[in-house]
Amino acid sequence: MKGKVTITIDGQQYQVPEGEKLLWAALDCGIYIPHLCSIRGEEIPEASCRLCFVEIEGLPDPVTSCTQQVWDGMVIRTRTPRVDRLVRTAFELLLSNHKLRCSECLKNRNCELQKIARERKLKLKLTRLRPMLEEKPVDDSPDGFIYDPNRCVLCGQCVRVDRLVGTGAIGFVNRGFSRRVATFADIPLAASRCNQCEECVKVCPTGGLVFKK
Ligand code: SF4
Ligand code: SF4
Ligand code: FES
Repeated sequence: MKGKVTITIDGQQYQVPEGEKLLWAALDCGIYIPHLCSIRGEEIPEASCRLCFVEIEGLPDPVTSCTQQVWDGMVIRTRTPRVDRLVRTAFELLLSNHKLRCSECLKNRNCELQKIARERKLKLKLTRLRPMLEEKPVDDSPDGFIYDPNRCVLCGQCVRVDRLVGTGAIGFVNRGFSRRVATFADIPLAASRCNQCEECVKVCPTGGLVFKK
C-alpha cells in the first residue's frame, strides 16, 4: 500500500499518496488545475496541451503538473504571473484553430474549454492571435456519435482509449495546423475498423467527439 506525503498547495497543507502525479493529487484535494491531455494513472503523460503549469519551490521554471510526481515537503503555487501567462498563451493557441460557436455545439455547457475559461477567467475568444481554422469535414457516419475535427483540441485521449480497448481504428495524421484524428486511409468511421463502442466519445473533453443525443 502507498504511503502518504505532505505537500503545500497555495499555502494550504495536504496529505496525498506517495508517487502520485501532482495534477491528480491537486484535483483530489479540490484544487483545480486546467488540463486536457492527461489520463489518470498514465506512466508517461503526453503533456501536449501545456495547460497544467504550476510553480514548485526550488525549481527555476514552471513545470507541467501532469508529469511531476509529488514529494514530501513539496511547495506548489498554482497561480503566479508566469503560470497565468503560460496558461493564457496555451489556451489561446488552442482556440486559434477551434470552431467557437458554443450555442451550436452539442458539448455546450459540458465542455472542458468552457470550464477552463470560467475557472481562470479567460475569454473564450481570440484576443491576440489570428484565427487559423481551416474548416474540415465532419464525420457523422456512426449511429450514435459525431466526430467534428473543427472542435477537436488534439488532446489525444480518444486515440489512447481506442488503443487501450484494442480497436486501433483511429490515430493522428499530418503535422502542425493540419494535424487531426483520422481513421486508417481516412475513411468514415462507420466504414472503418471502429466498432462504435463509444469509449472515445466518453473521454473527449470538447465537442470533438459528441453523442448525437
Ligand atoms: S467544444 Fe466547447 S468551446 Fe468549442 S464550441 Fe463546443 S462548447 Fe464551445
Ligand atoms: S476528438 Fe476529442 S478526445 Fe480526440 S483528440 Fe480531439 S479533443 Fe481529444
Ligand atoms: S494535462 Fe498536463 S500538459 Fe496537458
